[in-house]
Amino acid sequence: MSLNAFPSRRPRRLRLNEARRRLVRETALTPGDLIAPLFVKEGIDDAQPVASMPGVMQHTLDSLLAEAKDLRSAGVSAVMLFGVPASKDAEGTEAWNARGILPTAVRALREAHGDDLVVLTDTCLDEYTDHGHCGPLRPDGTVDNDAAVTSYARAAVMQAEAGADLVAPSGMMDGQVAAIRAALDDAGHAERVGIMAYCTKYASAFYGPFRDAAECAPQFGDRSGYQMDPANADEGVREALTDVAEGADVLLVKPAVPYLDVVRRVKDATAMPLAAYHVSGEYAMVHAAAERGWIDGDRVMAETLIGIRRAGADLVLTYAAGWMARRLA
Ligand code: PBG
Repeated sequence: MSLNAFPSRRPRRLRLNEARRRLVRETALTPGDLIAPLFVKEGIDDAQPVASMPGVMQHTLDSLLAEAKDLRSAGVSAVMLFGVPASKDAEGTEAWNARGILPTAVRALREAHGDDLVVLTDTCLDEYTDHGHCGPLRPDGTVDNDAAVTSYARAAVMQAEAGADLVAPSGMMDGQVAAIRAALDDAGHAERVGIMAYCTKYASAFYGPFRDAAECAPQFGDRSGYQMDPANADEGVREALTDVAEGADVLLVKPAVPYLDVVRRVKDATAMPLAAYHVSGEYAMVHAAAERGWIDGDRVMAETLIGIRRAGADLVLTYAAGWMARRLA
């Protein structure tokens, strides 16, 4: 006699051993789904570890090339580059200096890897402005949207000229994707250079460690006037649809874990290639808890990254990309 009111329903049959579990596994995470964010800093002789992000460095050009080579040999498809310039000003003019650290790094990666590594570039100003906001300020201290967008377009063209595959505007200014697309097209990059749009980016406390790594903490105020309210999901879908209409090739939701509902909704609403960014604070928390012996950090990291894929992200930006890729091999 069966203990089960529905004798034919015994879900555990498919969990009986690893071979059966493998057979019915729904989601796969492969090294090719991973994008590694990398920091390259101007004017340093040795790579500098980022204290709050174990395993993450501010790279020199040489150490960046070595890291990219390791990532590629582990099967990682793509890197997202953040430049940390030696000098900053109110406008963030270094962001469109063709001899600046970011385009120099792009050229070096392109030379080392040809077309075998997808190189994405952060297109924003906060690493380049002395006040740390994502665009130039008006006298009242708010960010001037249209002036920021004009600067993003200049920076994007310069990044494209250096050899970027996809530029990635992360500033959450209105109209940024349309302006960058038009500027890229005018400059002759219509066919080759795409846009990964941070369509749905929240004003999040999880970016803390990144701001150490990229040296871009706002010197006053916060980013709630341009990044999204964590309470909003419909708005996140609207932002995504707007970026699709403006010409985005790939969408990105950020942070990842607190916003997995948004990841799923954006995927369902757009059917676009979708990335989710497991951000610095999310990464740091796993390491911090593991260091205290409170969780098994390796298993938590792997579970987190497959969860992001399962929620609907095709691509995962993670500081654990190299580690994860080697674990999957
Ligand atoms: C802004 C930018 C930020 C991150 C990526 N791009 C910081 C911010 O918006 O304050 C954060 C990424 C992370 O925390 O890992 N250009």
